[in-house]
Amino acid sequence: MSRFITELKRTHSCGQLAAAEVGREVVLFGWVANRRDHGGAIFIDLRDREGVTQVVFEAGLAPAVHDLAGQLRLEFCVGVRGKVVSRGQNVNPKLATGAIEVHAEELEIFNRSEPTPFQIEDRLDTSEEKRLQYRYLDLRRAPLQKTLMTRARVNHLTRNYFTERGFLELETPFMVKYTPGGARNFLVPSRLNAGKFYALAESPQLFKQLYMIAGFDRYFQIVRCFRDEDLRLDRQPEFTQIDVEMSFVEQGDVFDVIEGLVVQLWKEVLGVEIPRPFPRMPFAESMDRFGNDKPDVRFGLEHVVLTELVRTHAGGGVPLLEEAVAAKGIVKALVVPASANLSRTEVDKLEEYVRGMGSKGLARAKVAEGGEWTQSPFAKTITPALRAAVNEATGARPGDLILLQFGKEAVVQTVMANLRLHLGKKLGLIPEYGSGGAWRFLWVVNPPLFEFDEESGQWAAAHHAFTRPHDECVQYLETDPGKVDCYRYDCVLNGFEIGGGSIRLHDPAVQARVFKAMGISDEDARSKFGFLLDALKMGAPPHGGIAIGMDRLVMLLTGAESLRDVVAWPKTQKGTDLMTGAPGDVDAKQLRDLHVRSTAEPAR
Ligand code: AMO
Repeated sequence: MSRFITELKRTHSCGQLAAAEVGREVVLFGWVANRRDHGGAIFIDLRDREGVTQVVFEAGLAPAVHDLAGQLRLEFCVGVRGKVVSRGQNVNPKLATGAIEVHAEELEIFNRSEPTPFQIEDRLDTSEEKRLQYRYLDLRRAPLQKTLMTRARVNHLTRNYFTERGFLELETPFMVKYTPGGARNFLVPSRLNAGKFYALAESPQLFKQLYMIAGFDRYFQIVRCFRDEDLRLDRQPEFTQIDVEMSFVEQGDVFDVIEGLVVQLWKEVLGVEIPRPFPRMPFAESMDRFGNDKPDVRFGLEHVVLTELVRTHAGGGVPLLEEAVAAKGIVKALVVPASANLSRTEVDKLEEYVRGMGSKGLARAKVAEGGEWTQSPFAKTITPALRAAVNEATGARPGDLILLQFGKEAVVQTVMANLRLHLGKKLGLIPEYGSGGAWRFLWVVNPPLFEFDEESGQWAAAHHAFTRPHDECVQYLETDPGKVDCYRYDCVLNGFEIGGGSIRLHDPAVQARVFKAMGISDEDARSKFGFLLDALKMGAPPHGGIAIGMDRLVMLLTGAESLRDVVAWPKTQKGTDLMTGAPGDVDAKQLRDLHVRSTAEPAR
């Protein structure tokens, strides 16, 4: 009968033993990470989440134990009792426990392991599909264990941070009523209510506002959210938010709380001091300089807007530019310095890259000594005046390369934003993770409340319809909705939006005008958001909040490249779980019970 676990309790983790413990009797549990059989002595590395300890089974010390150890193979799960012995001259400086080894006197194999589909090593070249299929093995690897331990730490520090500041951790339902706007929802059919559906909450937004109306004053929750979106490296269909709502605040109060949290996390987890307050950048400036609202400000290659210049010069002899401006498009440039030394072939590759994003091409101009343009489709026709003005506006010097985009605003912005990032990477301008000085937080503030939706010909809420407009803009709600800026803000780090929120609209009269501007009738608004509109009329306090994308935060904090490296059980790009096979088939009876009929072709 084994004495392990019942009598022999674990004394240490596998990452804990040091020279000071030499001579002690210890009990360790873990997995065989490495094994060498030297005949009279068998060596294994025993691994648990805290680290690795070398264990030696000597035939001379305990023959039966040595014999049993002969059966050990990689990933067997075992218990060991033995003595801590100094390694003397053979210290392994790479290992935290490298000063010692454990000489085993007792061993139990709790469970054997078949050969694993890949070895449990820090660096792997196994495909991601295989890793996700055997995720529990992938998660045995030290880098992932470290990341998830950091994640647990972030959770813990966050809970303490908010609790100490008077925030209540309150829950909100996952199964909610579908409300339009925002991300696409997953739907859950109701068995008890034929033909009706719940939506899985894409965020606790409305409920956290209702907590404020109910008088809870300060709320936070580390909460799962569900969105049926196209997935990318920084998007999962279920992800976690650090969700916050506060009463009687303006946006600066929300910033204070979040900056305090972020600064504490970076200090505790990385030992890095982040300066406060974070800079604030107006949305319009971010769009002009970087082409998006999540600028990576760690490097230059900023955009220059040339639209007005081109207009003043009536196209400056370049019909394409003239047409773009006449069609209400924009013109933007970016200067690649001479030092980058891009070859023509490299620039042609850049052109291919932008075409891949829907651009018609990549106009360019190399600036010569006297400011003339060469290697440019515009060189012959552009007026000297516009050319000089562009050189001046962009600050381009002889030898520099000006890259240009013009046309529909949305396309130009996206193409230019991605081009800048692409070049930043290509030219090595983006500092590596952990190289110091590379944490550039900022707030992007004051965006417009509405976006014009070409398809419907209507103004639509850029974020959601419950964001408070700036008081001085309320007058434009009826006459010029595009001019209405609002109290919405995004927290940005190194080119990622790590959080977003707003001060909410708590005035029912202004709320009604916002709906009207969006072409939503009173009736429509009532049927969609009636419960919130009612609540806003019953003493709603001024309030606002934010949600931080916790997975993204941990991704950046740990230098991971994808959310899949910081989410324990992630979904693939197609939203599948390769380990369990979700989403899966259900049988006809289950569908009948749910009053659902599938229109999908049966799988063949
Ligand atoms: P928002 O939609 O901006 O705001 O979401 C807040 C933050 O959540 C993260 N995020 C995601 N992370 C991983 N996968 C996804 N699919 C995903 N979608 C969003 C981002 C984002 O900044 N209710 C509002 C907040 C508020 O107004 O208080 C909301 O959900 O980092």
